[in-house]
Amino acid sequence: MNNFTFYSPTFFAFGKGQERETGKLVKRFGGTKVLLHYGGGSVVRSGLLERVKASLEAEGIAFTELGGVQPNPRDGLVYQGISLCREEGIDFLLAVGGGSTIDSAKAIAMGVPYEGDFWDFYCGKRPDTALPVGTVLTIAAAGSEGSGDTVITKEDGLYKRGASGDCLRPKFSILNPELTETLPAYQTACGATDIMAHVFERYFTNTAEVEITDRLCEAVLLTMCKETPRVIADPHNYDARANIMWAGMTAHNNIVGVGRAQDWNSHEMEHQLSALYDCAHGAGLAVIMPAWMSYVAEHHDCMRMAQMAVRVFGCQMNFENPKETALQGIAAFRRFLASIGMPVNFEQLGAKREDIPRLVAMLNLKGGKTGGYVALDEAAVTEIYERAAAAELV
Ligand code: NZQ
Ligand code: ZN
Repeated sequence: MNNFTFYSPTFFAFGKGQERETGKLVKRFGGTKVLLHYGGGSVVRSGLLERVKASLEAEGIAFTELGGVQPNPRDGLVYQGISLCREEGIDFLLAVGGGSTIDSAKAIAMGVPYEGDFWDFYCGKRPDTALPVGTVLTIAAAGSEGSGDTVITKEDGLYKRGASGDCLRPKFSILNPELTETLPAYQTACGATDIMAHVFERYFTNTAEVEITDRLCEAVLLTMCKETPRVIADPHNYDARANIMWAGMTAHNNIVGVGRAQDWNSHEMEHQLSALYDCAHGAGLAVIMPAWMSYVAEHHDCMRMAQMAVRVFGCQMNFENPKETALQGIAAFRRFLASIGMPVNFEQLGAKREDIPRLVAMLNLKGGKTGGYVALDEAAVTEIYERAAAAELV
């Protein structure tokens, strides 16, 4: 196991009705004037926004609203939010929604105290200060409620890029699984796929002797395999939704990834798909991740992937031919994704094979390589996009 630091300062309030504590938590973490940030209207329709406002009012906390965050959040609204916060003297960002809303709030939070262009943080600059952020989560997916990450798309050029910093970890996150019951099944499945992908990005490592994090990863993956079909069959299954919601946080605050090198090639490749086609991040991952696995099975020792196949998907280990076991695991993963309604290839995603050179260019490898498990150059990522384009169920 490698040396590591682990900093996860977020206060979590989990369970039914916890959104009624929002005002108290904003006060506890020093907020006096809040930017209430939300998406395209689901929180208005569900009545959640009204409950959150009532909770702020009960504590005498002033707020200004900024809705309209799109999935795959754009820089335009971030600039608008930064100006608004400066004009209004906002001292706390409250995101009510999913990963897109939370990521947009984190971008605004970094941008307000920064004199330059906030996009600098998405081009490699590390933020050292930001306004405090709190979240009321409505979808189990991105893990932004516990992570120090944010992903924003630049409208001019369609660049989707990430930024990270400990100052971006939310002060508090409210996780009420009931709030996810209004999600369309497709969006629930996209979230589940993203959660599993966050674990796989960490599971595939060249670091030896990482039993504890291997086993934690497998626990999250097994939970997702069990609980996702239950919520797809019954959207009001509170217990299944609760397990998924905590799995989503666990998958991405890095508790399952410390002390080991991580990969993240699939995420890099997916971000270009959601930038170009505005597809859901999880749907893009459903197409890319198995294609990446099938490439890796041919270009890397297969023992780790065979281990995944056996421990997560119940395949029989073939010690003489671990690659066969690995391929069975990949096929099982793809069948699972299809069974919950996820696309398996470019056509089902709405992506175009002829765009592959453009997707590769958008990755901006500059002749170099990417990825911590198997380093990929332009020829390799092209092959993986080709595999994703042509994939079929077996
Ligand atoms: O905008 P509204 O009207 O709220 O509708 C949203 C949106 O259309 C809807 N929705 C959310 N909760 C709902 C609901 N509809 C009904 N009932 C509810 N309870 O779902 C749609 C998707 O929402 P979004 O916030 O985009 O989903 P998600 O949480 O999957 O976030 C995706 C974004 O997070 C980024 C992705 O790249 C993508 O931009 N990621 C962020 C990460 C991070 N910050 O750590 C890591 C991830 O790997 C990921 O890259
Ligand atoms: Zn993700």
